[in-house]
This record gives sequence, structure tokens and C-alpha cells, in this order.
Amino acid sequence: MSVYLAIETSCDETAVAVVTDAFRVLGHRVASQMEHGPYGGVVPELAARRQLEVLPAVFEATLQEAGLSVEAMDGIAVTRGPGLAGSLLVGVAFAKGLAVAYDKPLVGIHHVEGHLCAVRLETPDVPLPALGLAVSGGHTHLYYIADWRDFRLVARTRDDAVGEAFDKVAKLLGLGYPGGPIIDRMAESGDPRAFSFPVPQMSDGSLDFSFSGLKTNVMNVLKRDPRAFAPDAEGRWPQRTYDLLASFQQAAVDQLLDRTRRALRMIPVRALVVAGGVASNRQLRRAMGDLSEEMGVPVYIPRPDLCTDNAAMIGAAAVAHFQAGQRDDPLRMDADPAWELGTAFWMSFRQG
Ligand code: KG4
Ligand code: ZN
Repeated sequence: MSVYLAIETSCDETAVAVVTDAFRVLGHRVASQMEHGPYGGVVPELAARRQLEVLPAVFEATLQEAGLSVEAMDGIAVTRGPGLAGSLLVGVAFAKGLAVAYDKPLVGIHHVEGHLCAVRLETPDVPLPALGLAVSGGHTHLYYIADWRDFRLVARTRDDAVGEAFDKVAKLLGLGYPGGPIIDRMAESGDPRAFSFPVPQMSDGSLDFSFSGLKTNVMNVLKRDPRAFAPDAEGRWPQRTYDLLASFQQAAVDQLLDRTRRALRMIPVRALVVAGGVASNRQLRRAMGDLSEEMGVPVYIPRPDLCTDNAAMIGAAAVAHFQAGQRDDPLRMDADPAWELGTAFWMSFRQG
């Protein structure tokens, strides 16, 4: 059995995990930074400074939980990109230091690949090929997963990521950050048919996503009559606000469903994987379960705490890379804030 140490600091979390090549998680720590709340989003400089401070302690606590030392590790995996430059650097520099100081193999992992590989922590042998939908604050990507090291891009967002839309709508109403979990909760008390927001289609027929129009539509509803959606003196929200949030969430989920359904019709796969922070959304999980039945393709969605940023998913992604013998040079490996995962696939399957 091999054991890997994994580090993830691409956005505002500081996460470390110890994962085996059988996808068992021996240690798992995520330090979140809720102090971005007042700013309505992540402040990059604050995130990197905080990660610099807390990473050593999170690392120690994770090893302690696993009951293992760095010497016992068979390799070190770290998120190399994409993400915030300063944040990525903190994790990458730490991982490189460990790799050199302890003479351990090192691999740099793509953050979105990590999200999709999180399913392997619960189901190591998800049947392949699979269609993978990665939905988070920074990504809305649909991949054809040919193999756990071969991701091909089917579609991506042309503007905002879906999680970003949740965060921006929450910010419009002053609900707090991150907006996703708050809207998820409040939408349960609203009528998803109260407002109708269309699912956009691309004029070139591609499966690409677009969420900025939906955010603008919500903003326009709010602008017409801001007082009607504001909380009362006791801080209670009017029913209309719950309805607006439920309708927004429904439209966001409908677009994800539309693209995924169309992709499943065009590309033969044996499984559907949904991952990333937004995959913890209850409405989306239910809807993907229904789509799975409709299409006769099994769906795998990690449990909610493995959907949001964590390091166990980075360890899970690293397994295939270590097993294939990949080794990154600890002196040369660099953070890549704009790293693109996989080759473009859409054009090839449309033409072929
Ligand atoms: O994967 P993640 O933790 O970080 C990124 O890689 O971006 O995703 C964070 C995003 C945020 O936009 C957050 O609002 C959203 O995921 N999110 C949710 C829910 N939980 C987190 N969106 C909708 N419903 C949720 N329950
Ligand atoms: Zn993420």
C-alpha cells in the first residue's frame, strides 16, 4: 500500500490530507476562512497571508490524525493550478520544500481534476468512460473522462461560473458569502416557478454555459422594486425573496441539466460524475439523480464535504499520476494560476 500527502490552497481554504492508493482517507483537515464574509467575496491578499500562517499547523494536525510522519509518505501531491496566484504559491512552495527536504516524489495536480476525482474516495472504480460536470465558484466545465489521467473538455462557461452566480445573487441581497449554501437553504421555502428565467442557448449549438445573464435577470427583478425583497425590521425576509431565490436556483440547475442531458445523448458513457462546491446543492443533487434515471446512466456525486474544496480530492487525483510513474521536478515545478485541464474535445466529436 502507498500513502500520499496532499495539499490544497488554491482559493481561500487551507487543506491537507493523507490518502492511500486504495482511496482511504487517513487524515483530512480543511481550515476555512470565513472572515471574507464582510467583503462579499475572497480577498486574495488576505487569503494568501492566512494560508501562510495556518498551513504548518493544518499539516501537523493532519499527520497526527493519520498517525504517520512525512517519512512514511510515498509521495506528495499539491494543487498547482488554477486558482489565486498567491494562494497557490503558498501550497506549492510548502510541497516543494517537503519533497526536497524528505526526498519524496512530487506531483502537481489540477484543481478541477481533483474535484472530479473526489468520487473515487467513495467509489474507487467508477465505470469509465464517464461524463464529468465540475461546478464550483471558479469553474463550470463538462469533461469527457476517458481515463483518470485523460480529461477532454466538452463545454465550459463563457462568462461566470455557476457558483459565482450563486455568490453574486447572494451579494445583491446582502445575504453573506459564500452565497451557495445560504441560497440552497432559503430556496427550500420558495416557489421555483414564481419567476421564470430562461435557459440560454449558444447560437453555435455548442454545449457551453452562460450564467451572467441569469444574474442580470435577477438583478433587474430586484431593481424594479428593491423594497419588496428587503427584510423587515426584525430581519425577516418576505416570501417574495424566497421565491426569487428558488426561481434563480431552479434556472441555474435547469441549465446544468440541459447541457448534461444533451451531452449524454451525444457521447456514450458508462457514468456521470458531478463534483465541485455547487454539487453539494440539494436541488442539483436531486435533479441529477432524476436525470440519471431518465438516461439510464449511473450518477456519482461525492458527499457534500468532499464537493467543496479539500485536499483528499487532490490525493485521490494523485493516485493515478503516481501509479503511472509521473514525477514533477521539485526545483522546477511552478504554480500555474491559469492552468487549463485537458484537450478540447467538443470540435473533435462534432466533426467526427
Ligand atoms: O469547489 P469550491 O469549494 O471552490 C471553488 O473551487 O470555487 O466551490 C465554492 C462554490 C461557491 O461559489 C459556493 O457558493 C458554492 O460553491 N456552493 C454552493 C453550495 N455550497 C457551496 N452552491 C450552491 N449550493 C450549495 N449548497
Ligand atoms: Zn474548488
